[in-house]
Amino acid sequence: MKNNNSVKTGKKHKILFVCLGNICRSPAAEGILQAIVDRNGRTGDFLIDSAGTYSGHRGDLPDRRMRSAAARRGYVLTHRARPVTMTDFFDFDLIIAMDDSNFTDLMHLAPSVETSRKIKRMSAYFSGHTFDHVPDPYYMGADGFELVLDLLEDACNNLYLCLE
Ligand code: 4NP
Repeated sequence: MKNNNSVKTGKKHKILFVCLGNICRSPAAEGILQAIVDRNGRTGDFLIDSAGTYSGHRGDLPDRRMRSAAARRGYVLTHRARPVTMTDFFDFDLIIAMDDSNFTDLMHLAPSVETSRKIKRMSAYFSGHTFDHVPDPYYMGADGFELVLDLLEDACNNLYLCLE
């Protein structure tokens, strides 16, 4: 969890990205949105974090292939994987799932109808893509990681504009 106190001290926008392992897609989304926010001088207004529905990679850095692909675009990914927790549903105001499976898992985990309304699909922020989800690159080749980064950059730019 990034800067735990920020959850308590009340940032304007609190966004949690969620995928399965929290080592490929969601930490990349976190790094990309953080870069956009920082570039726009809005660091103090945003709390951005990521988590996974599967806890098997807890404590791990993002996948080496994702870190390399992201670094080539200027994103340094230092997040440590962690599973989604119940408190996340109260601490964040937007919880963004990378694919339908993540979305369904989050809907089952949500402790109330009210908190379930915070769950959105990343594809809702796509523009100009034919995809309806962010595909899992874990078993893909290098092209898969580039595709994921293309989709995430597009979605994060649009998400930032929605929240500004
Ligand atoms: P992610 O990718 O959900 O984008 O982090 C995956 C990472 C690990 C596994 C699956 C997907 N895994 O099966 O370990």
